[in-house]
Amino acid sequence: MTTTTFIFILLGAALFAGIGIILVAMRRSDAEGSATKAELDRKAIQVDRKRREKKAEIAKVESGEGTVMVAAPAEFADDPPKEEISAEDMGVTRRKFFNRAIGAVFGLFMLQFALAGLAFFWPKLKGGFGTPINAGKVASLKAEVVAGGSIIPKFIPAAQAWVVPFEMDKLAGSSFEATPFVVAGGEGDGVGLMALWQRCVHLGCRVPSCESSQGFECPCHGSKYNAHGEYSSGPAPRNLDRFEVSENDAGDFIINTGNVVQTSRAKEFTIAYPQGPFCV
Ligand code: FES
Repeated sequence: MTTTTFIFILLGAALFAGIGIILVAMRRSDAEGSATKAELDRKAIQVDRKRREKKAEIAKVESGEGTVMVAAPAEFADDPPKEEISAEDMGVTRRKFFNRAIGAVFGLFMLQFALAGLAFFWPKLKGGFGTPINAGKVASLKAEVVAGGSIIPKFIPAAQAWVVPFEMDKLAGSSFEATPFVVAGGEGDGVGLMALWQRCVHLGCRVPSCESSQGFECPCHGSKYNAHGEYSSGPAPRNLDRFEVSENDAGDFIINTGNVVQTSRAKEFTIAYPQGPFCV
């Protein structure tokens, strides 16, 4: 499971939990509302009954039937103003307070979670992988990647790429003919440079170079590619992916890691492979 999938599952679970809590809070709120109304009704009935009983008692005394004269309390005088208790008068009950507190805490939690998720997914395009990377001077790179007739791929960590030499006259008829921008710096001496993504096109393992076979061999499931990243054997479905490259006016080799180029398996190799024992 990738980190992105895990984050999405976590967000989904938090969302469902939040909806559940809000629904429970709403039910609690509804139940609370009907209890308050019932209570108000009961109080009103009690007050009304007491008032009627007192009136009857006063009427009995006034008509001489009664034996004891009792003064009616002021609140039971004729047609006293009816005292109604509204929900506002009741104020904020303890249950209401806790419901609101739960809602507020949950809201803050969700806000923090959303901001953290946003920060995680927000693209960071100021340098780093996904942007053009300056790998150094073309001339010095060329001197580094060939030694004694062997290819010594140079790894550029910021670009996650292997830089390898490529003879320009091999471009025509190769799997890269339609994408010449995957080679750069070969105008003068006929030898350009390519930047191969180190990620195996099978399941994404990092592919190291193998000096003895003069290629790249994946340690995970054994896919093999030659020094130009052309597929040779194993479960990989195509050549190693590579990046668009260019040489700027200052003679720097620029690897545009935001532009990945995929090519199908080579019908004919542009370089012999293997040239010695395999590493894997
Ligand atoms: S990940 Fe490289 S061969 Fe499977």
